[in-house]
Amino acid sequence: MNVLSAHAAYELWSQTYPPIAHNPLMRVEQDVVERLLAQQRATRALDVGTGSGRYLPYLNATGARVVVGLDFSRAMLARCAGAPSLRLVLADACRLPFRRAAFDLINASLMVGDVHDLDRWTGELARTLMYGGHLIYSDFHPSWAQHEWRRTFRDAHGRTHEVAYQPHAIDDHLAAIERAGLEIVAIREPRFNDDGDAAVKAFRKQWGNPPVVAVFHAVRPHGPQ
Ligand SMILES: C[S@@+](CC[C@H](N)C(=O)[O-])C[C@H]1O[C@@H](n2cnc3c(N)ncnc32)[C@H](O)[C@@H]1O
Repeated sequence: MNVLSAHAAYELWSQTYPPIAHNPLMRVEQDVVERLLAQQRATRALDVGTGSGRYLPYLNATGARVVVGLDFSRAMLARCAGAPSLRLVLADACRLPFRRAAFDLINASLMVGDVHDLDRWTGELARTLMYGGHLIYSDFHPSWAQHEWRRTFRDAHGRTHEVAYQPHAIDDHLAAIERAGLEIVAIREPRFNDDGDAAVKAFRKQWGNPPVVAVFHAVRPHGPQ
């Protein structure tokens, strides 16, 4: 199987990528992220690597007047359905086309595994976050690299493709968060629940039950008063 670059993969994957948690990994991730987002009240919210917009309704539910979904895949953005407050932006997460402190809430779900330069990415998110603003993001857990799991998907013709990804250690995330001037609030490392899903059962039997996702919650501390 040939391994597609992230951009090529998402252009193709968009055809079969509904804006809901459509596999066990996304369900485990959303369980955690949804609860963190539900605690937020925001005015301007950004979803980085929004894909088909799975988290846009949750950002909208924070009360935000402006919700922005950003992605570098035009085909993915075309799948986002919008509320009137929604703006969609085609751009690279490592060069955000926004002024400093433009948002008080930033979400980025399962996309930083496509990013090589973690410092650059974290720095850009921190730059666009207001003082006191919250950053919530998730990544594939280092278990993936440890066990050499591969990321695959089926296109609209039923063909299977593999997507390249960039593994990041938990310590690398924490160091990048610190260097960007953010403070970590919480890290969660969820595992699959035994919810009767046959694929999850088989996975747990083969691998034990390692964490599959890492979720980070950080804040940009208030500057000097
Ligand atoms: C695994 S999908 C996740 C989509 C959505 N966040 C979700 O969780 O349902 C990753 C998304 O990030 C986008 N992406 C990856 N690297 C990016 C980058 N450097 N800049 C902007 N978007 C990027 C991809 O196009 C894709 O839509």
